[in-house]
Amino acid sequence: AIGPVTDLHIVNKDLSPDGVQRPTVLAGGTFPGPLIKGNKGDNFRINVIDDLVDDRMLTATSIHWHGLFQNGTNWADGPAFVTQCPIVSDNSFLYNFTVPNQAGTFWYHSHLSTQYCDGLRGPLVVYDPKDPNADLYDVDDENTIITLADWYHVLAQTVVGVATPDSTLINGLGRSPDHLDAKLAVITVERNKRYRFRLISISCDPNFNFSIDHHSMTVIEADGVNTQSLTVDSIQIFAAQRYSFVLQANQPVGNYWIRARPSGANVTSFNGGLNSAILRYVGAPDEDPTTDQTPNNTPLRETDLHPLVNPGVPGRPVPGGADIVHNLTLAFQSGRFSIDGASWLPPSLPVLLQILSGTHDAHDLMPPGSVLDLELGKVVEIILPTAPVAVIGGPHPFHLHGHNFWVVRSAGTDKYNFNDPVIRDVVSIGNGTDQVTIRYVTDNAGPWFLHCHIDWHLEAGFGIVLAEGINQTAAHNPVPAAWNDLCPKYNASLTTA
Ligand code: C2O
Repeated sequence: AIGPVTDLHIVNKDLSPDGVQRPTVLAGGTFPGPLIKGNKGDNFRINVIDDLVDDRMLTATSIHWHGLFQNGTNWADGPAFVTQCPIVSDNSFLYNFTVPNQAGTFWYHSHLSTQYCDGLRGPLVVYDPKDPNADLYDVDDENTIITLADWYHVLAQTVVGVATPDSTLINGLGRSPDHLDAKLAVITVERNKRYRFRLISISCDPNFNFSIDHHSMTVIEADGVNTQSLTVDSIQIFAAQRYSFVLQANQPVGNYWIRARPSGANVTSFNGGLNSAILRYVGAPDEDPTTDQTPNNTPLRETDLHPLVNPGVPGRPVPGGADIVHNLTLAFQSGRFSIDGASWLPPSLPVLLQILSGTHDAHDLMPPGSVLDLELGKVVEIILPTAPVAVIGGPHPFHLHGHNFWVVRSAGTDKYNFNDPVIRDVVSIGNGTDQVTIRYVTDNAGPWFLHCHIDWHLEAGFGIVLAEGINQTAAHNPVPAAWNDLCPKYNASLTTA
């Protein structure tokens, strides 16, 4: 079935979500952008209309639907210069894709340079009318979403290296240290009801330690995959990860702090409600909570997460037991990150366009050294990182487009799980001496980005393209005519600028 077309206007707007006004780039004029939702099996037709005019920021754009596989529609995946040229101002582009077999919590964001740090990020939920978890929670408005964001007073284009957030926002509201009177997000619950909360990190950089005073959380989904129920009292969530959890509103009517303590400097203090929102029971007064933080006895550990339906890990149950094993070397030198010796720099022609134009040898694909080819129908094992990581810092959250993957070895452990490890699409590779191992099957022809989701790091080259089934890519991904127009228009905009 062909779905209705949704217009998504990308606009410039002044906003003061933490008490300080700044210009921004927004989807639909709000931060975060509007919820995009549909059901498992739906056709999504999202017409992105670029109304950007403020040339202190990027006026072109390109949108990624984070976590959706785009099987057969690699051209609609969104990362600029991997699968398309950017959409230029005053133009639109129709992203048209179906979601045949995924449901859960996703998000969308600009995938052009560091534009999403200026505001272009929003939630995307795919509902499953036959949700196997539905009996665990009461269906409230189905839209209880909690987005965690970092926020900057400087424009992303002016950042050299890494920026430090000036504040953090929950559902688009927060307090910067000199504006402790700014409004916070309020999430309202009714006593004695159970809720499914969808927690989405739309962060450009920090990870968050998330908790709700006096309430535990029963995790039921990670990155769009249902998990066995796991009750915890805090969740460390890395940039671009998502969790669903069931919250029982079983405490006395009142106000409770929702806390999201970011890693990194500047905004870590809780004083005055920094990095927080309010869980408010119906009947409680409109005031800040006075609750104390629940002791963190049972933090979420990734190795405790298991898929609700266990499909089994592909390959043999030993390290290296895959058809293709890539032991990637990660490094940082002279301000640039590299993977296997190559630092990602956007090529002038998108990788997909190069492949469709007949370049079928990965060695000839640009940028040199940043494209690996993978044969279709193989079990792939990727090991990150293999070198001492003292030089690259961390923890880095790595995301693979076009797939999710089994995390057979998580950060912080030397044990492997070849039986029932978590399946997700962003994994922290940790720091120190961690070595994270993931597995997946190449069943999706097309070039897919693998990169650190700290956006400043991707801008500094921390990504690589895994070109899957190069010879089958054209037949598997018929492109619409409008896609072919993107590069000529973008290149013309460069010469007239
Ligand atoms: Cu949300 Cu390439 O990523």
